[in-house]
Amino acid sequence: MSDQLIIFDTTLRDGEQSPGASMTRDEKLRIARQLERLKVDVIEAGFAASSNGDFESVKTIADHIKDSTVCSLARANDRDIARSAEALKGANRARIHTFIATSPLHMEKKLRMTPEQVLEQAKLSVRFARNLIGDIEFSAEDGYRSELPFLARVVEAVIKEGATTINIPDTVGYAIPELYGNFIKTLREMVPNSDQAIWSVHCHNDLGMAVANSLAGVKIGGARQVECTINGLGERAGNCSLEEIVMAVKTRRDYFGLDVNIDTSQIVPASRMVSQTTGFVVQPNKAVVGANAFAHASGIHQDGVLKARDTYEIMRAEDVGWSANKIVLGKLSGRNAFKQRLQELGIEMESEGEINTAFAKFKELADRKSEIFDEDILALVSDESVTAAKEQYGFVSLAQHSETGERPRAKVVFTVDGKEFTGEAEGNGPVDASLKAIEQHVSSGAELLLYSVNAITTGSTESQGEVTVRLQHGGRVVNGVGSDPDIVVASAKAYLSALNKLHSKIERVSAQL
Ligand code: KIV
Ligand code: ZN
Repeated sequence: MSDQLIIFDTTLRDGEQSPGASMTRDEKLRIARQLERLKVDVIEAGFAASSNGDFESVKTIADHIKDSTVCSLARANDRDIARSAEALKGANRARIHTFIATSPLHMEKKLRMTPEQVLEQAKLSVRFARNLIGDIEFSAEDGYRSELPFLARVVEAVIKEGATTINIPDTVGYAIPELYGNFIKTLREMVPNSDQAIWSVHCHNDLGMAVANSLAGVKIGGARQVECTINGLGERAGNCSLEEIVMAVKTRRDYFGLDVNIDTSQIVPASRMVSQTTGFVVQPNKAVVGANAFAHASGIHQDGVLKARDTYEIMRAEDVGWSANKIVLGKLSGRNAFKQRLQELGIEMESEGEINTAFAKFKELADRKSEIFDEDILALVSDESVTAAKEQYGFVSLAQHSETGERPRAKVVFTVDGKEFTGEAEGNGPVDASLKAIEQHVSSGAELLLYSVNAITTGSTESQGEVTVRLQHGGRVVNGVGSDPDIVVASAKAYLSALNKLHSKIERVSAQL
């Protein structure tokens, strides 16, 4: 059995299914480029047949990504599979990932198909896909709650039809590590041609065990592909987290004996990019990528680490990309240095005009903040006033007054389709007053589901504040992100960004199964 573990990233497909995490095609391409820098083996770019927008996203990623395999999800039917193949035409390496549910519950209640019909459909789909592309993954949806003898028949049949990877998802996050590992092991033993495919695990985190289950699938079950997402992004409690899997396998190589291709120094930049793009904040105590993951607060620990790092550290912060948190540019940096840093960060601006707008924003920020970090640059280019001049709402300026014993007041100037408006309001605090000032004119009717503030870079009150606002209206949930050294301004920007997403005419791609 190979000692290489394949890392299959599904941030852009399964991750994006979380409410509010939908992305535009350009955002998806930017993340795909970062995943390529991270050296993930397979990027699941989307679900081409689910909408024209998702088709275009998969196609764009397939046309631009050269090193990783690009994959599209497809239900087990000819139309979905043909659409995936069409979107993947430009890829250097392409994979079709077709799936059908195999658990009694899903077959009876969701698909309304008999097991024999499901078996037949699985065979026909893999046969059809194999005639279009050589690299075919088959997933048995709700595989872990399926009956082993039936699942073994399906898997044997699809391998005979040419499936090259077999994925057994724990779709609902029901598994327990030892049981899941043994399930995969037993299944492999029951399938006579099991050695003709790579086995894969795909675990959801409903009981907080997605990473542990995946690792058991690898160690006990012999799987050699793990499906995961950056920051564990995904519906409900999320998917198995890429950074945790990779660092577990690397740090405990003595136990797993496996290698991964990942360039771990790109993990934190990838985490930042996904959280800034989707508005899903990373909890501070999150393993590997949380702001506190390497912070030693207790005196005993600090003393130990200073004497010998490995007394309390099992990984080095710089190995996962925390060293990127260094000063990269300053007030005197010129346009060329700025442009070069954008290129190094993999950020492509569509036009010189866009670079000029971003550079002007950078200069403005450098006037107020002496040290500019990569995180600041990433936040700056995700600012919609730089990347999307066509957006409906734009921030212009804000003035607010708050004093102990007085009710805070705010005046916000913003644009709606290029026309300037001024809103003034009082509130419980300056943030509340600012959002009310915007609403005074917009009257969106949206419900505020979440408001959160984080420091973009750690360690200083000079850091920019990054605000996330989640709004819900008419069944849609969107996240807006805004950043500024002034957190009240960051809040107004985040609110306007969320309104843009709510009212946007640019398609936000979100593949829903
Ligand atoms: O969780 C799941 O079952 C999936 C499949 C479509 C692979 O995401
Ligand atoms: Zn899934």
